[in-house]
Amino acid sequence: MIRSKSTVRNLPVYRPGKPIEEVEREYGWKNAVKLVSNENPFGCSPKVIEALQGLQLFHQYPEPMAPLLRGKLAKHFDVEPEKFIFGNGSSEIIQMICRTFLEHGDESILVDFTYSIYQSEIKIEGAIPIFVPLLNGSYDLDAMLGAITDKTKIIWICNPNNPTGALIDQDTLISFLQKIPDNILVVLDEAYMEYVVDENAPNSASLVSLFPQLIVLRTFSKIYGLAAMRMGYAMADVTIIAELHRVRPSFNTSRYAQMAAIAALEDQEFVAYWRKMNDQERIRIGDQLENWGISYYPSQGNFILFDSGSPSQEVFQYMLERGVIVRDRLRYPTYIRVTIGTSEQNDRFLEVFAEFLACR
Ligand SMILES: Cc1ncc(COP(=O)(O)O)c(C=O)c1O
Repeated sequence: MIRSKSTVRNLPVYRPGKPIEEVEREYGWKNAVKLVSNENPFGCSPKVIEALQGLQLFHQYPEPMAPLLRGKLAKHFDVEPEKFIFGNGSSEIIQMICRTFLEHGDESILVDFTYSIYQSEIKIEGAIPIFVPLLNGSYDLDAMLGAITDKTKIIWICNPNNPTGALIDQDTLISFLQKIPDNILVVLDEAYMEYVVDENAPNSASLVSLFPQLIVLRTFSKIYGLAAMRMGYAMADVTIIAELHRVRPSFNTSRYAQMAAIAALEDQEFVAYWRKMNDQERIRIGDQLENWGISYYPSQGNFILFDSGSPSQEVFQYMLERGVIVRDRLRYPTYIRVTIGTSEQNDRFLEVFAEFLACR
């Protein structure tokens, strides 16, 4: 029996949201509603579909540095092109960051209820995750500062936080970054930032030149609706980007993902539309949960976390059998996270959840 390395052996396998195809096969549904993986419920911009017509060059490797996309993003954010690196989804960049910077015994600070991939990648490198509790779903940055030791290497901030949806504003973030010693990296994961409507949201691209130890992560998987394409990116000081390139798998983003991302980025009307729709629907779902006396976390993302008051697996199963997939088995046993869908999908979610509440 060949043994895997000790840091991998007992690691849980990442549990993604139940794929829609699987639910439709198992339960015979034709149009199940998938509100589990924080995808864009509509899909992507029609301009992406157009740009991908007549795909060709299947036999040739893509340009590994994604120069066209890099140029577009550089303009979009007003950040030098050399400060970008691309990944097969931003999850690959999280992996690259840990692989590049974490050594056995290093400490890495994160909150106790956030995107689970950070802790798996930390552990795989033999480093130690140091968990800081959230305060009512929000970051307790003073507690994070208090957790710094001479072994600390990376601090993870998911902004807005998945799954609570809490946002750290520009001033708070700046004053936090000012207190971080130069030898500690701060990873700011902004997978959901395009959904944020709060005017005090950080302008993190501008912070990259002020704080050389900051890495900002973004993805095309969420508001841009390109989760299947796998395209994420990081912005950081060139010295950090240069190190990440040493571990980047060659040709890690496909030419089609690069093409799709360029077309998606160019359609900012699409982004603005879905930001607005998401905001309206998020308020509507929140109001309805409140009417039912269900407590939820005010969210700036495209998801809401709430306390269903029942074992989450029961809620999940009840809804699944009626064609609605939500996220169960989170950190707390009665919590459910629902992705904001189209208004029809949200109607369906609310209808089925109301039935659940009536019969429990
Ligand atoms: C906070 C956060 N970061 C990163 C990701 C990874 O996204 P991707 O690898 O699709 O870019 C996700 C996906 O759900 C996420 O929630």
